[in-house]
Amino acid sequence: SVTVDDEPTSGVTGGNDPLDGLCARAPIGLLAELTHRCPLQCGYCSNPIELERVNKELTTEQWVSVMEQAGEMGILQVHLSGGEPTARKDLEEIVAAASRSGLYSNLITAAVTLKRERLEKLKELGLDHVQISFQDVDAENAERIGGYPGATAKKLEAANWVTDMGLPLTINAPIHRQNIHNVGRYIDMAVELGAQRLEIAHVQYYGWAYLNRAMLMPTYEQTMQTVDVVEAARERLKGILTIDMVVPDYYAKRPKPCMGGWAKGFMNVTPAGKALPCHAAESIPQLTFDNVADRPLLDIWLHGEAFNAFRGTDWMKEPCRSCAFKEIDWGGCRCQAMAITGDPTNTDPACALSPYHGEMAAMAREESRRPLKPYVYRNPKNAAEALKPKQEEP
Ligand code: SF4
Ligand code: FES
Repeated sequence: SVTVDDEPTSGVTGGNDPLDGLCARAPIGLLAELTHRCPLQCGYCSNPIELERVNKELTTEQWVSVMEQAGEMGILQVHLSGGEPTARKDLEEIVAAASRSGLYSNLITAAVTLKRERLEKLKELGLDHVQISFQDVDAENAERIGGYPGATAKKLEAANWVTDMGLPLTINAPIHRQNIHNVGRYIDMAVELGAQRLEIAHVQYYGWAYLNRAMLMPTYEQTMQTVDVVEAARERLKGILTIDMVVPDYYAKRPKPCMGGWAKGFMNVTPAGKALPCHAAESIPQLTFDNVADRPLLDIWLHGEAFNAFRGTDWMKEPCRSCAFKEIDWGGCRCQAMAITGDPTNTDPACALSPYHGEMAAMAREESRRPLKPYVYRNPKNAAEALKPKQEEP
């Protein structure tokens, strides 16, 4: 048996609890990336550069089975994401399966192709929550960032349908140097739309965002100003709007507890069925991933190699190994350690105790001051280009 956590099981049903005797705790959340297809082309996307093809996507039956298994394991929430999850014609069947399985379902959508009738149907089938991303509050800039003309009017219309139908609405604001000046206006927009929650989500540098990092990195000063704006708004809007904020940890002193700790409370399933401990885990070449088409979800959670690679604290090296925070931030982010230091077992360089910390912060400051150039849009053509083997220098 595997000891995942020594706390009592949470969200696990009584009786024939499949985790009984394993001292294990079910993940709280499952991110189901239903497809990598997307009408938008945002260069800050955290999807991998190598987008999964439509002919490799899981079938309806396979996604329905993932929902059923998630419910049996005691997972509480499923986030239906992508790409754009509404690109799946069978989203209705997947939502119905999530609802039957007792999962709280959250549709994470760009909303530009959503129709009111479809949203009504999804609600009838048990959809619990909708999250809509806005690339900026200024339509012209938003549509340049997302590469989709006319997006803003469609998103505003869809957000109004959500609240009209009595569904809870979260506005997602992906923040970077090209829209960071508008954080205050995002807050006003979320209030006007009747959203319950606003995520001021500074871009995290994985996948396409890593490729475009210099065109996205805000300055330290801009970042600190947003912290002040959000703090003041939280005070002013108590009981009206909940504001979550993710700050860019390139400027932090201590890292975020990424995913709440590796394989501690979260699973991700890619469009082709790979089960990952985090959405960027494929950037760690040492790991191999099981597919939900071949192995039960519970078995992957408990015994999958990738899930056990950095679970707990045994894998840690110094300075994390002897640090008082090791069970608070779990050494930070494995994918960021991989991306910046080349070794996923290193301390996340966002930590001031990492020997790479100064270098990373200096790089962020330097990139944030570079002149802006167009960034690389997330689309299959640019993916093919980015993945081409680089020509050897003569
Ligand atoms: Fe967290 Fe490791 Fe830094 Fe300690 S040394 S604060 S555990 S990342
Ligand atoms: Fe993979 Fe942080 S994104 S561990």
